[in-house]
Amino acid sequence: MSALLKVTGLHVAYGPARVIHGVDLEINSGEIRALLGANGAGKTTILKAILGLVRAAQGAIEFPEGRLVRGLPPHKIAALGIGWVPEGRQVFSTLSVYDNLLMGAFNEHDQQKVQQRIEEMYKLFPIIETRRGQIAGSLSGGEQQMLAIARALMSAPTLLLMDEPSLGLAPRLVRDVFELVRTINQRGVSILMVEQNARQALRVANWAYLLEGGHIVGSGTPTQIEQSDAIKRAYIGRQAS
Ligand SMILES: Nc1ncnc2c1ncn2[C@@H]1O[C@H](COP(=O)(O)OP(=O)(O)OP(=O)(O)O)[C@@H](O)[C@H]1O
Ligand SMILES: [Mg+2]
Repeated sequence: MSALLKVTGLHVAYGPARVIHGVDLEINSGEIRALLGANGAGKTTILKAILGLVRAAQGAIEFPEGRLVRGLPPHKIAALGIGWVPEGRQVFSTLSVYDNLLMGAFNEHDQQKVQQRIEEMYKLFPIIETRRGQIAGSLSGGEQQMLAIARALMSAPTLLLMDEPSLGLAPRLVRDVFELVRTINQRGVSILMVEQNARQALRVANWAYLLEGGHIVGSGTPTQIEQSDAIKRAYIGRQAS
């Protein structure tokens, strides 16, 4: 069986600046995989290339299961079943929490189904329900991150791409976010997670890739990655917990 998402030989450049150099990665149905790397390694660029938000100079992107999507517009790629939690929790700050959720259901025209999904999100994120009438920009950082995740789930994706979901959150909220990643995965959503918090990411992921300067320099199970000198040197050694 083919992988749910398969990226082969991906190259991306911003004008003359070549930032991704022949990246291969994949994720099978049911998995949580982590893409780890320092600032500027190219993590966000890879997610954006998968989503069609930046143009891939070369390479193949297959989703789901062998369908070639490179070159399709972002809304078509999203409609195939990819959800996105962008870096820095970019919620629609002038809209209410409820309207942010509605925007996430862009691909569902049956209003009854949309309402059902909103009810599911309220169950999964009780804090979101209590804030439903509030303007999203007035939520706390942690609440905005929850809303960004809930909004991404409103399109009922089979694959969720999460860009540094724990960044800037207090330790308790970091644990909550990783717990949520597990819960979402148990509900049948495969997850590709970009993280600088390698230690936490390796606790939930079943496979990880290590990105340095636009190259994958290592990949393996969390145990293999934790034991690799490259990651000890570059990331884990620097982190408090
Ligand atoms: N729109 C852009 N135009 C030109 N260069 C860009 C653009 N976006 C990113 N870059 C460059 O591409 C490289 C990779 O950036 P990217 O945002 O993918 O890294 P990242 O691994 O997500 O970093 P971070 O952990 O800081 O989010 C960086 O050198 C960055 O300066
Ligand atoms: Mg980034």
